[in-house]
Amino acid sequence: MEIRGKIAVITGGSRGIGRKTAITLAQKGAHIAIIYHSSDEKAKSIIQEVSKNYGVKAKAYKCDVSNFNKVKETVSQIEKDFGTIDILVNNAGILIKEPFIETKEETWDRTIAVNLKGVFNMCRFVIPVMLKHNSGKIVNVSSIAGRNGGTVGVPYAASKAGVVGITNALASEFTPKGIYVNAVAPGPVDTDLFKGLSPEQRKKLEALSPNGRFAKPEEIAHAIVCLIENDYISGETVNINAGRYMN
Ligand SMILES: NC(=O)c1ccc[n+]([C@@H]2O[C@H](COP(=O)([O-])OP(=O)(O)OC[C@H]3O[C@@H](n4cnc5c(N)ncnc54)[C@H](OP(=O)(O)O)[C@@H]3O)[C@@H](O)[C@H]2O)c1
Repeated sequence: MEIRGKIAVITGGSRGIGRKTAITLAQKGAHIAIIYHSSDEKAKSIIQEVSKNYGVKAKAYKCDVSNFNKVKETVSQIEKDFGTIDILVNNAGILIKEPFIETKEETWDRTIAVNLKGVFNMCRFVIPVMLKHNSGKIVNVSSIAGRNGGTVGVPYAASKAGVVGITNALASEFTPKGIYVNAVAPGPVDTDLFKGLSPEQRKKLEALSPNGRFAKPEEIAHAIVCLIENDYISGETVNINAGRYMN
């Protein structure tokens, strides 16, 4: 897909991987709609940054992706504001770290609601817009934890494994209709998601990586954009972990 002039929706675009993805897409000439949850100032600043630096149309929408009706309303507003949607990056996510035997019911419910139902909600309302022109690219952000379990918690791992399932099911149904659906599964990335780590915990995680470091958010954004540009990959989950885990 030629990205210039296309309309891209990025959930969790206010910070971390989503923010870098929005910038990378804007650099390539896409118009940007970001969805965020609570960081009003950060959302405002990314919109100003991309419209000023790259001359693209950009707007931010405050919306909890776990809320079915709010997502419906927001996607409809984006379609009104931009005319259509060509690209969807389902990146919004949360991580609540708790040892399994102390895991609260609310942790399970909230993690599944944001990380898994959020992807369902967005696809549920964006795909009908893409079907109006029989084309689209969707990239979902899973995690290494969704593939090998990891050590960050069962609800998180389960939600991210579910994202791989959504990706495969949507790719089977919609690739014949011109909508390509893929996922990325990063290892640890240098963002706010891991900001509570002690230096020792961070060292331990870095040591698991064959290149001895966390990924930079722009390295994940780059892979997401490669999947959007490619016109033959669908139903794939791409590991991005410097060779820590291969399948
Ligand atoms: N960092 C890692 O090591 C890593 C590794 C593998 C996969 N991932 C995945 O990559 C994705 C992005 O993570 P990140 O590290 O960039 O995280 P981050 O820096 O914490 O950013 C999270 C983003 O998600 C948004 N968000 C959270 N809950 C939301 C909700 N209910 N509705 C709408 N937006 C919501 C946040 O909006 P506000 O700013 O408004 O709060 C923020 O923009 C997540 O799905 C995460 O699971 C991350």
